[in-house]
Amino acid sequence: MAFVATAMSTFADEGMWLPCLIGERIEDMRAKGFELTAEDIYSVNQAALKDAIVLFGRGCTGEIVSEKGLLLTNHHCGYGQIQSHSSVEHDYLTNGFWAMNQSEELPNPGLTVSFLHRMEDVTDRLAAGESVNEIIRMAREGGKYTASVEGLYYGNKSYLFVYKVYKDIRLVGAPPSSIGKFGGDTDNWMWPRHTGDFSIFRIYADKNNEPAEFSVDNVPYTPKRHFTISTKGAKEGDFTFVYGFPGSTREYVTSDFVDYTLNHSNPAKIKLRTLRLDIISEAQSQDAATRIMYASKHANIANAWKKWQGESLGLERRNTVQKKRDYEERFEQWAVGSEFEGVLGQLHEKYASLLPFAMARDYYNEAIYVIELLGYAGRGADNLREGHYKDYSPEIDRKIAVAMLTEFMAGVGEQFVPEWLREQLAQQGSVENFIGWLFEESRYSSRERFMEAKASGYDFANDPATLMRKAFDDKALEMIAPDYANLSREINRLYRVYMRGQMAFESERTFYPDANLTLRVAYGSVAGYKVADGVRHIPFTTLDGIIAKDNPEIYDYDIPQQLRDIYVTKDYGRWAVTINGRETIPVAFLAKNHTTGGNSGSPILNGRGELLGINFDRTWLSTMSDLDYDPDICRNISVDIRYVLFVIEKIGGAGYLIDEMTLN
Ligand code: ARG
Ligand code: GLU
Repeated sequence: MAFVATAMSTFADEGMWLPCLIGERIEDMRAKGFELTAEDIYSVNQAALKDAIVLFGRGCTGEIVSEKGLLLTNHHCGYGQIQSHSSVEHDYLTNGFWAMNQSEELPNPGLTVSFLHRMEDVTDRLAAGESVNEIIRMAREGGKYTASVEGLYYGNKSYLFVYKVYKDIRLVGAPPSSIGKFGGDTDNWMWPRHTGDFSIFRIYADKNNEPAEFSVDNVPYTPKRHFTISTKGAKEGDFTFVYGFPGSTREYVTSDFVDYTLNHSNPAKIKLRTLRLDIISEAQSQDAATRIMYASKHANIANAWKKWQGESLGLERRNTVQKKRDYEERFEQWAVGSEFEGVLGQLHEKYASLLPFAMARDYYNEAIYVIELLGYAGRGADNLREGHYKDYSPEIDRKIAVAMLTEFMAGVGEQFVPEWLREQLAQQGSVENFIGWLFEESRYSSRERFMEAKASGYDFANDPATLMRKAFDDKALEMIAPDYANLSREINRLYRVYMRGQMAFESERTFYPDANLTLRVAYGSVAGYKVADGVRHIPFTTLDGIIAKDNPEIYDYDIPQQLRDIYVTKDYGRWAVTINGRETIPVAFLAKNHTTGGNSGSPILNGRGELLGINFDRTWLSTMSDLDYDPDICRNISVDIRYVLFVIEKIGGAGYLIDEMTLN
């Protein structure tokens, strides 16, 4: 009995639950330390915590922390905005940015934040004959809201999500990258972690508190609810929950999909990115300007590259493919004579047919469309500006193109190679010669050549980069897209049956829907984990760890002098904590919440719903949790809110922002 109880409580750390159904989890949550009610998390009739959470942009989460619409998210989520306001004279990426009053806050055209107004199970309405379009049209209430209907459990359920979208979002503050990106790619996905990964924005509204395009007449948005901040931290074992917008997980797929990920897709994509990163790093190591120019590209390429490696290690270690096969065998025996009989066999067949198309698609995306020259050609001369060449080195791109095309030719079947390319390769004799010719001939291959050609009325339609781009686009449309789409549709139709089957097969198990960038609650406790035999990671880091890593010679670890000075004088103010008799500042912590990409910027909250920190990453050993969550080692990483407040006050000198917040 005792064994069963522990097994169940461990299992419950897994899951991303729908806020409107959180009542089903509340007993378990309360047993673990949650002190509020389901209505506090989600309610249509009264203000709830959900009203303090936004989808930030198109792929992050943010939370409201003041009555005047002040919003926190990650530094890496606001990175594009911070970068867009940066110039040589005002290098906010390097030096940080702090508005000293509302008139100094910077507008960000195109940036939106979306509040979930309500969600509704519309499965029955659809079954009764209502159309998706009609449901959406009614939910929009004449344009007051945006709405979408999303399938959950592979379409066995359909939910309506209704959002209010604000459009005047201003940048309020950002730490220097040496704090906001501290550790860079070296520490990315890793623990121990010391990144101050936060940035601050403010939502503006019209005089009626409604969404409006940017206007100087707009006023700070008055939220229905904002988070109280806990300045007391949490101990190992304390209850926490993460409330945000996880992007995508696939927990209920078959062994075939995991096998594809582990043995086909990940190895190919990792190899391609390794080649690209090596070429970029080599160029960066030889020239400081190139290092800066390719810093952001390098970080983007490295992020998923590192994640996939962690994911593959995790899937190996968990033996996920075999585990799923065993499960499928039991499922098939159980399914004999039922409507679920044979569904796995059909899925298996469809996956076998999909494999070449899926691989070709991977190669198109990771080997061909990453050639920046083809990106320029795809954008087209009319839409291309001088500024698009700002961070471009034709030499690097040419080297990448040779490496990528070589891999492409070796990696995909004949039928996926455009005829145009085959002819060119035959004519030029080798990939090197062909790429050399391509970059020589194309007028897209540098800023100067492009501007010159554009000014002289050159015919870009016959540029070799245009022709190559078109050859690949056409081939993709002809070979990959239709089959890939048809097979994917078939597979999803079968998954709908298999999902229902799994729910019947394990009728006592609670199934949470896979993440799909809709609002979810995950909960778990603050916890360290066993990294390896004899090695445990404790779940807290402090300023002392930053100082230990600090090294002016290493780009990722070169902290601001201000922070060094504060460390020497111990000018920690009210944010100091005493650990083992020493005063320090808490920086980051680990917990067992089940999160994924999109949860960046999500609030991590204590049992009273108070803000403990901002989620920004998972540990490397966790990254297979998108397919197979392991409660023993999967941990989300958050920046401690006290470090955020410390940086705002002591580094930014923007303590007035803290006066706006509600601290406890
Ligand atoms: N790994 C985190 C995420 O997936 C942070 C990425 C940004 N940081 C970086 N060094 N690339 O988004
Ligand atoms: N950094 C990720 C994001 O941007 C979160 C990390 C994860 O995948 O859990 O959403």
